[in-house]
Amino acid sequence: METGSRLAALSLLLLLLSAVFSPCVGQINPAEIDPLLYEEQLLWVSGAQGEVNTYRIPLLTFTPKGSLLAFSEGRKSTASDVGAKFIAMRRSTDKGATWSPTAFIVDDGLKPDGLNLGSVVVDMEVGSVILIYTICFHSYHCHPSSTMMLESRDDGLSWGAPKNLTVQLGVKAFASGPGLGIQKRFEPAKGRLVVCGHGTLEGDGVFCILSDDHGQNWYNGAALKSIPYNQKKKAHDFNPDECQPVELNDGTIVINVRNQNSYHCQCRLVVHSHDGGLSLPVEGLYFDYTLVDPVVAAGALQKDGVMYFTNPSNEQHRINLTLRWSVTDGKTWEGKAVQIWAGPSGYSGITSLEGGSAEDRKYIYVIYEKGHKNYCETVSFAKIHLFGGR
Ligand SMILES: *[C@@H]1O[C@H](CO)[C@@H](O)[C@H](O)[C@H]1NC(C)=O
Ligand SMILES: *[C@@H]1O[C@H](CO)[C@@H](O)[C@H](O)[C@H]1NC(C)=O
Repeated sequence: METGSRLAALSLLLLLLSAVFSPCVGQINPAEIDPLLYEEQLLWVSGAQGEVNTYRIPLLTFTPKGSLLAFSEGRKSTASDVGAKFIAMRRSTDKGATWSPTAFIVDDGLKPDGLNLGSVVVDMEVGSVILIYTICFHSYHCHPSSTMMLESRDDGLSWGAPKNLTVQLGVKAFASGPGLGIQKRFEPAKGRLVVCGHGTLEGDGVFCILSDDHGQNWYNGAALKSIPYNQKKKAHDFNPDECQPVELNDGTIVINVRNQNSYHCQCRLVVHSHDGGLSLPVEGLYFDYTLVDPVVAAGALQKDGVMYFTNPSNEQHRINLTLRWSVTDGKTWEGKAVQIWAGPSGYSGITSLEGGSAEDRKYIYVIYEKGHKNYCETVSFAKIHLFGGR
């Protein structure tokens, strides 16, 4: 009896200790994740606003104050990547329930080749939101291509003048994202801003630009170059392209990459950086066969130890926008994927609010290109309840 009650006391003590010391305290039980499309609304409808033909390339971010900011390219006269554009923005201060009217925060004029989005990165240490975009990326009409930066210090209400980062980075065609940059939350390089993107189709690859002083100065970090580099590609050449980085709790950066020429599979490439974005060793590259992909920009997010991923999950067509999640840092995916939209769907992105409240732990937010006949018809915002509405 005595031994039994001692054992009971000991196991209670161990339980209490493990509750105190376990890194899993407050972590989500993966079995409880049961994502529910909780609310959805169209933020932009192509052709519906006078000066814009097509809205494409949506970005969605949290802000340090707990707002959501959505951005897209407002392509003035065609649906093409090339041509004059606005950067459109809408802002929500009530977790996506209502949105401000569209503000055009950049107008590139009527150039033959305008701007392209882009990445948004939040600096929690100084409370800023930084938008990185490119001008003259696609065209030979204007040279060279420039990497530009806009910054807001007031939660997205106002934006400073565009700054030309090419002066610091050197002339190179670099199209960031499209998606979110990250601020390193863990060592190595805690606090660093990491924005990754791709090069021109010939000089393609994944390239990251880094800032260790809150976006004042930027320098070139990791490069994972295409093969053959700076040469015309053939079908199935190695051609890493648009990408989305996330940070794991051990400080590793995982980058989920568009496999432009479907090298090895009709699926996503994954590559890791263990030095805060300075290098992307090819030894660590793998193909994620579960993440079948029609060659597109996809969304990825790491939240409370769970990795989320969105793309049009189909080998041939941009249809079937699907949310997946992983409790093994993307090594395996839970079998139960959630279809957000069966029809045409293109680029997507994911964010969540970082307030730490019970409310903020329940939701993630997805933005994606959505249509009935064509994925360019609208940009849609979807609020996802992670626990089936409970
Ligand atoms: C940005 O800076 C680069 C390098 O100085 C220059 O070649 C380019 O024309 C600049 N772009 C703009 C839009 O000012
Ligand atoms: C949609 O995606 C799911 C999950 O990947 C897959 O099982 C299903 O076959 C896909 N449907 C189509 C039509 O691609």
